[in-house]
Amino acid sequence: MDKREILLSPIAFGNRTSQNRFFIQAMECSDGDPEGNPTDLTYQRYENLFNGNAGVITLEAITITEKNRSRMNQLFIKPQNQPALTKFVSKLKEVNPKPIFLFQLTHSGELSNPEFSKRLSVKLLPGFEGDVFTEDEFENIMQDFVRAAKIAYDSGADGIDMKMCHGYLGSQILRPYNTRKWKYGGPWENRRQFAFDLYERIRKAVPDEKFIIGSKISVWEGFPGGMGTAGPDTPVMNFTEIIDLVKGLEERGAAFFVQSAGSPSITISLTQADRERPYFAYLHQYFAKVLRDNLKPETVVVGSNYSVFGNGLNRLLAVNPEDKAMLAYGADNIQKGYVDMVALGRQSFADPLLPLKFEEGREDEINFCTACDNCLELLIQQAPIGCCTYNKFYSNVLRETRKEKGRLATDHT
Ligand SMILES: Cc1cc2nc3c(=O)[nH]c(=O)nc-3n(C[C@H](O)[C@H](O)[C@H](O)COP(=O)(O)O)c2cc1C
Ligand code: SF4
Repeated sequence: MDKREILLSPIAFGNRTSQNRFFIQAMECSDGDPEGNPTDLTYQRYENLFNGNAGVITLEAITITEKNRSRMNQLFIKPQNQPALTKFVSKLKEVNPKPIFLFQLTHSGELSNPEFSKRLSVKLLPGFEGDVFTEDEFENIMQDFVRAAKIAYDSGADGIDMKMCHGYLGSQILRPYNTRKWKYGGPWENRRQFAFDLYERIRKAVPDEKFIIGSKISVWEGFPGGMGTAGPDTPVMNFTEIIDLVKGLEERGAAFFVQSAGSPSITISLTQADRERPYFAYLHQYFAKVLRDNLKPETVVVGSNYSVFGNGLNRLLAVNPEDKAMLAYGADNIQKGYVDMVALGRQSFADPLLPLKFEEGREDEINFCTACDNCLELLIQQAPIGCCTYNKFYSNVLRETRKEKGRLATDHT
């Protein structure tokens, strides 16, 4: 089948239909106002994405608490912000009513930034500092998650992605390293109960079946005791718990899973393959296949890490040039049955109009991501984030940030 036929074909997504196979990843951009409401800059980014006509668009990681967060200017979901969020959603739906709009709800836990918030951990990882939460504190967090889901619903979002990836709180509870003796620690039956309780409590608070729920999952975090490992002190892959998790969440109403991997503060190249190490992207398709093979056909599996394939001029070897371009590779993954949808992360910064250009036969006009990771440098420096290669505004932000703070010594820029 032709890649256009594959990528432009609709697919059932919960009780709705995604008009094509493009899924815009949650991409946090640190441009909220001091209360955590979207600014004009935030709106502009999403307006571009809505004009781009992807089937599903995810709102970046929006924090459920300001006490523990990783970005200074992160969006914040609380009752006081509901009017601004409602206006934001309705303006975007006026721009284009077709995309399904999900909110990604998060709590940063041990990845909260101690410069302006508090690190809170279930059990500190070696080399990490912060406080360990009490069970009462954790019950408040559960309540905040449920409250946030209700606000997302009331604001007009079509659904939520309960974040369980990248080392944020969801991963911290679920991973084998959480051997702490408490309700959600130790044996897998306890740890998984956190996610099961969360889904059940959210469904009770938002009983509308049309409201879509799903999760982005790090299938393997890539360090000892991380998600997808065989135990608290080994990095060896074992997906028994991950498979049990997604099946249990499917039973509790999950309509989709976004496959991911790694924990960026520990294993960044695994979370987002960079141009020096593009081959990490291949692991993702294997992880996606593990999910796809174990879920019901109607549950949508969204694959990640396509940006590094770009226009095909990448450092992947022993592949035909035409097969290693992002669109061809994504379509091939769908055809082979590894994934149902192709997620665009950094690529959605490089060209938010990609799905529209592709649909209109303007493939030669697409700006493909080069996986340079300059946008990641902006993220680490707490600056407003966007593509520094194709968008002048953000290349200026990068220049100013480097002037003020110096160039970040990442090993892959
Ligand atoms: C600047 C930046 C912000 C990100 N923000 C989020 C986020 O809010 N939530 C999330 O789950 N992943 C986030 N990610 C990870 C991406 O969603 C995605 O999983 C990763 O970049 C791999 O996809 P790609 O190769 O298409 O970029 C972020 C990545 C970058 C570079
Ligand atoms: S800055 Fe580089 S990695 Fe980021 S979106 Fe632009 S081209 Fe891609």
